[in-house]
Amino acid sequence: MKNLFRYFALAALLFVASSPMQADNTSGTFTMGDKTFLLNGQPFIVKAAEIHYPRIPRPYWEHRIQMCKSLGMNAVCIYIFWNIHEQQEGVFDFTDNNDIAEFCRLAQKNGMYVIVRPGPYVCAEWEMGGLPWWLLKKKDIKLRERDPYFMERVKIFEEKVGEQLRPLTIQNGGPIIMMQVENEYGSYGEDKPYVSEIRDCLRSIYGKELTLFQCDWSSNFEKNGLDNLTWTMNFGTGANIDDQFRRLGELRPNAPKMCSEFWSGWFDKWGARHETRPAKDMVDGMDEMLSKGISFSLYMTHGGTSFGHWAGANSPGFAPDVTSYDYDAPINEYGLATPKFWELRKMMQKYSDKKLPAVPKAPMPIITIPKFELKEFAPMFAASEKHETGDIKTFEEMDMGWGMMAYCTILPDIPTQSVLTAECHDYAQVFIEGKYIGKIDRVKNEKSLTLPPVKKGMVMMIFIEGMGRINFGRAIKDFKGIVGDVTITADIDNCEVVWKPKTWYNYTYPDDYETAKEVLDEVITGDVIKGYQDLFATISDKEYMGGRGYYRGYFELKKVGDTFLNFETWGKGQVYVNGHAMGRFWSIGPQQTLYVPGCWLKKGKNEIIVHDIVGPKEAVVWGQAEPELNKLQLEKSNKHNNIGDKPDLNSATPVATGAFKAGNGWQTIQFNKTAKGRYLAIECLSTQKDGDRVAIAELYLQDTDGKRISREPWKTKYANSEEENGNHMGDKVFDLQESTYWQTEKGASTPHLLVIDLGSEQDVKALEYLPRAEQGAPGSIKNFKVYVY
Ligand code: GLA
Ligand code: CA
Repeated sequence: MKNLFRYFALAALLFVASSPMQADNTSGTFTMGDKTFLLNGQPFIVKAAEIHYPRIPRPYWEHRIQMCKSLGMNAVCIYIFWNIHEQQEGVFDFTDNNDIAEFCRLAQKNGMYVIVRPGPYVCAEWEMGGLPWWLLKKKDIKLRERDPYFMERVKIFEEKVGEQLRPLTIQNGGPIIMMQVENEYGSYGEDKPYVSEIRDCLRSIYGKELTLFQCDWSSNFEKNGLDNLTWTMNFGTGANIDDQFRRLGELRPNAPKMCSEFWSGWFDKWGARHETRPAKDMVDGMDEMLSKGISFSLYMTHGGTSFGHWAGANSPGFAPDVTSYDYDAPINEYGLATPKFWELRKMMQKYSDKKLPAVPKAPMPIITIPKFELKEFAPMFAASEKHETGDIKTFEEMDMGWGMMAYCTILPDIPTQSVLTAECHDYAQVFIEGKYIGKIDRVKNEKSLTLPPVKKGMVMMIFIEGMGRINFGRAIKDFKGIVGDVTITADIDNCEVVWKPKTWYNYTYPDDYETAKEVLDEVITGDVIKGYQDLFATISDKEYMGGRGYYRGYFELKKVGDTFLNFETWGKGQVYVNGHAMGRFWSIGPQQTLYVPGCWLKKGKNEIIVHDIVGPKEAVVWGQAEPELNKLQLEKSNKHNNIGDKPDLNSATPVATGAFKAGNGWQTIQFNKTAKGRYLAIECLSTQKDGDRVAIAELYLQDTDGKRISREPWKTKYANSEEENGNHMGDKVFDLQESTYWQTEKGASTPHLLVIDLGSEQDVKALEYLPRAEQGAPGSIKNFKVYVY
């Protein structure tokens, strides 16, 4: 009991309370004409720049809008991020960095129109796709469906947004020309009644004059396409543009065409290389669209930063996004022009009869900060906010949105090694008697850990950090903490013994500045440290739990400016500078620096707090002049070329052999008979053009009814070659994104082999294959063999 007391007394003791625009603002119109949009009755091509207000510090908003304008854009396109405005149910915030009306007014002031995408779901690599976590307090809620509670909250929120934006529609003399209904619903499901209800909600708020549209992919927009809405397509750099609009042209030959998300680059996830897309492909695509009178929104024109805990995660699998949302966009994360910007600007000039406006000067210089040490320290477990004893609770059940939880229980006597099994969302570290045993990392799909022999009465703690909630696909209902039962299994005298600990001590640790500051202040004033030393007379502060905790330091500035703080020597956690949440760091990379906007720094003394749940190698930080977004520090390579994982296919019989057709678009290969197996192997024997390089954008398997099998549990088992540069790994064939692809390395010769673990045995009747979406389908396969085993 002494040990247990150690944990709980500590937590209790250290408890912390916790343009062509009307200058005169007269009314205008924006409507559909014959093959074109009409602005005040005149043909109009939308050249929109997607930028996100919460990803840009407010003092920089106007600069970023002007940067977009200097690219020749005539509009900005914004999502409305529900969960940043209603962080607590019923409490709304449209002030400061959340002042969306002011953002629109700034656009108007600078002669830019605005396209608004008010969700409720937005995707955007944003925590839970913009939905508030507290919706999950109603456990059985159906998100993005006609669930009564979901719809009730959606309508209340949209009404609040309406109070801000209704006066700003073009009909009311404002800059807003169009509004989007939901977001890419086709890649979530098929539910016209739901999409209709969102449409009606917006209609009732903004009136029937405002143009409403839907965005989807060319491959799935018909699923939910509503007759009385404008249809637009989303696709990325390099896509075959005629192909993308073919179906729309057949269905609605007289409709204007618009690519509502033309992806300039792509987002990054932890543990994989930084994504890039060639400038030339992007510019050529936009040039082609403009030459054909096609409207577009460039997603992202400036990506910015997912500050604090706002970065989301992708699925299938669990792939949390990094803090930087640079996106390889033409305007980089910190607002400056890249080579892509200049190439784009040159092209855009061709489509403007006036000289494009000058590129505005950056609002701040870039500064460096010499290395300094963070000397103040408070141990991690000093910050527990509340505690409950009994069943295991999720974050949501503990009424906490973001942060960490410690789950403690008292162990029985287990004389041998045992296996702890727990579904942990997301990053769990296990301690027994304060000693670190190992981790269960959801990113790696880990669900268990081997424990050493233990004695009755020992305390086990599972400490879990929640990362961003999934923002894409059905998995957006993403509870945090331990979800489900925890078991400990051991083999004792040839008998499997299973323990299910019943009593748990649940502790919450919110990840906000106030918590971090308060615990550090208490430690420094000695209030906490005294009690703490009584309890741990023999353990020095930093030794305890391996230096996991809160660190604080200060740096002096003579002049302020933007900088990039380097966290390469740190483990995993969050950073606060002068009270502003900067975002997550994780030693695995690829992002190693955090962007710190100069507008949040000051002359003289500045404060930095780092919360490191793993513990640093060295508690030092410095500010550098360039970001580091592409440095991996992995325990082992994330390539799948381990020869032990390569199946021996010599004696195996393929379920299909043959040749794919050349060109873009989906192809289906029917098997002669149903194949049974847990693994899919696709052997690529030759390519359509000369060369050995192979690429696949997406793969699906069909069951015996011709339905697509869920890819949720899929993992890459083996790939003989994967191009890490630009992140073209095996998992790109089942990431639900048609614009991303697996690609072999230059110089690697055919045959190429990709093996996918389907998670469990499946009955398979057909394979669907999508080559790269670019013109000419680069890397497309000719002769193939498919195995299911
Ligand atoms: C989709 C979504 C966007 C974003 C992009 C990828 O198009 O609509 O919100 O997630 O994918 O960056
Ligand atoms: Ca893909």
